[in-house]
Amino acid sequence: MVLWLVPSWPTLRTRPVCKFVTGNELSGNCRRIVRWKCTRRPEILPCVSKERTGLRVFVLSDLHTDYAENMMWVNHISMVTHKKDILLVAGDVAETFKNFVQTMSLLKDRFEHVFYVPGNHDLWCRWEKEKYHDSLEKLDNLLDACKRMGVETSPMAIDSLGIIPLFSWYHESFDREEEITGVRIPPLEMACKDFHACKWPDQLSKEGVSLAQYFDTMNNSNQNAVSDIQRTCNQVISFSHFLPRQELCPEKRMLFYPNLPKIIGSDFLETRVRSIHSVNGSNSACHVFGHTHFCWDAVLDGIRYVQAPLAYPRERKRRMNGGEDWLPFCIYSDGQLADPLSPCFWSDYYSENPRTPHVTQLAPWVAKYYLHRKI
Ligand SMILES: [Fe+2]
Repeated sequence: MVLWLVPSWPTLRTRPVCKFVTGNELSGNCRRIVRWKCTRRPEILPCVSKERTGLRVFVLSDLHTDYAENMMWVNHISMVTHKKDILLVAGDVAETFKNFVQTMSLLKDRFEHVFYVPGNHDLWCRWEKEKYHDSLEKLDNLLDACKRMGVETSPMAIDSLGIIPLFSWYHESFDREEEITGVRIPPLEMACKDFHACKWPDQLSKEGVSLAQYFDTMNNSNQNAVSDIQRTCNQVISFSHFLPRQELCPEKRMLFYPNLPKIIGSDFLETRVRSIHSVNGSNSACHVFGHTHFCWDAVLDGIRYVQAPLAYPRERKRRMNGGEDWLPFCIYSDGQLADPLSPCFWSDYYSENPRTPHVTQLAPWVAKYYLHRKI
């Protein structure tokens, strides 16, 4: 992610799964606030331990290998286990071209097929100003490098499985939920480094929808390949860096930066995803995304949505076992999508609690944070 602060509770593996209870159910000093009540879900064995019976697809996003710990994590992925597997990398690999190439090369040595879509961090130019005229030139360089390494950035059918990478960028109007008032939330330009670290040609504005539209239009050249996949494949997995639906992010009152939904998603992407998987979705419809660093596994209007971010080292340390045994998540094996849904903090929360964005009272941990900041 791009922000000075986002909450980071989630994991795709085992950890206590918490649900909110209201103050009425509480006793003693805790009565006045909402708190966590923790239950433990059954353990899900890592997919890598399963006996393989066919194609497997693993997903990963937000590798941020400019952090040495993260580069080391990639380096430690088995050279043997994934030799016949597919990996989908849903953006934010590294800020520098050198780290990007090193990371993708390590992954390509470990997986038979690696697919990639760019994230916002990948297009930052702040340390490489002399090298690139703007972020679009850097994007061209990244895609060329992928081609040289054998990393796929276009749709492809492998047996009866269709993989569809989707280019995307966010726009502010994606956020339609009620604003949080009463606290001074830093403006996007201050909170989001993209506004300074990315450089765009004059015709693309950081405001409005021009960037989101531009990136979405890049997908048009793959339309024939997408149509072929739709015609011939039993299973289709699309993936993007950004979010196609606001419901794939916690509500504003839960977020340390309540304006986060303004810099995470694209309506153009949602239209694109539905054009692939149909308006009603299906049992085999799956879309993978990244960017927010919240692990997610949920079905929404007939499409399975999954996020499995490696995330920053400090965020990973908050996961089960300090994130030590965190692995790429297996979304597809034995000819079908992983079943059941994996335990993830926030998607579990929303599977049990309705979304109520009209409620704008800050969650206790957010209220405490803003009180502490005295803003
Ligand atoms: Fe991102």
